[in-house]
Amino acid sequence: MKQRIQHLGNSLARRALKFSDRWAAQYWHFFPLGTTPQADKQTYLRLWEQEKESYYPEIDRFEKETEYTVDPLWFHDLALHTQIVIKNSPLCYQHGRILYTTLRHYLSLSDQNNRHLTIFETGTARGFSSVIMAKALTDANAYGKIITFDILPHNRPMYWNCIDDHDGSKTRADLLAPWREFVSPYILFFEGDSRINLNKVAADRINFAFLDGAHTYRDVLFEFQTIAKHQKKGDVIVFDDYNTVDFPGLVRAVDEGCERWGYDKKILSGGKDRSYVIATKRGK
Ligand SMILES: C[S@@+](CC[C@H](N)C(=O)[O-])C[C@H]1O[C@@H](n2cnc3c(N)ncnc32)[C@H](O)[C@@H]1O
Repeated sequence: MKQRIQHLGNSLARRALKFSDRWAAQYWHFFPLGTTPQADKQTYLRLWEQEKESYYPEIDRFEKETEYTVDPLWFHDLALHTQIVIKNSPLCYQHGRILYTTLRHYLSLSDQNNRHLTIFETGTARGFSSVIMAKALTDANAYGKIITFDILPHNRPMYWNCIDDHDGSKTRADLLAPWREFVSPYILFFEGDSRINLNKVAADRINFAFLDGAHTYRDVLFEFQTIAKHQKKGDVIVFDDYNTVDFPGLVRAVDEGCERWGYDKKILSGGKDRSYVIATKRGK
């Protein structure tokens, strides 16, 4: 009896989530980030110049130790179009450097005969982090697929709250057109809620993941568990926003997941109350 009630409860919860997913899809298709540019071009450029001048000693050290650094000109150019937005919290896109360096390091340790990686990401947004991971694969002459999830659609024109809005509404595909050489061979964009869809995409092994979508305890733990089931010794998950003030649930989920599923945790500070975790799987 208890089992039947539990089963009914789970099935009702799943139906409610599916309904909200369908409803959300309608919402996210209709200019969810605004119907006009949110600032003039000069403002976006000024914010970009300011952020380019910022200094992140811990990440500089990490790059030095690991011996891989993303080309700064290429990096900041991508950031201008995909990271410089109008928001209340400070701008910071250092997760891009961490992803590049960590993925290059992972590839340097991997079997040279088996350099075909499967990478999962939650939280595509404008595509910054996916394109950086694709650049790391390209620079390392490696193969692979980056499957990235977001509730935001890929082929609907919209304003993205970025400098490109001054050219009119664009799809994400348009926005990323200058980086097509990285997008086309590597990235698969999946539109949908990761809480419903993440475990529907079957992969035998997930070598590397970046979890940057949902930020609550329950959701991060679910994503962590879904990925962890497909990882082996040395495989990696990178988490953004490891910050007890703004995201205490995310911090608890990362700590608990590392304990439960056997991951070593390296915490890197990006200043301005922003930290990142590189979780590396121990064991077999
Ligand atoms: C912080 S942004 C991601 C930034 C991106 N990784 C980058 O480097 O530019 C978070 C994104 O996650 C998406 N998101 C939040 N919750 C989600 C969920 N449950 N499923 C899919 N996408 C989600 C949001 O729409 C948003 O675009």
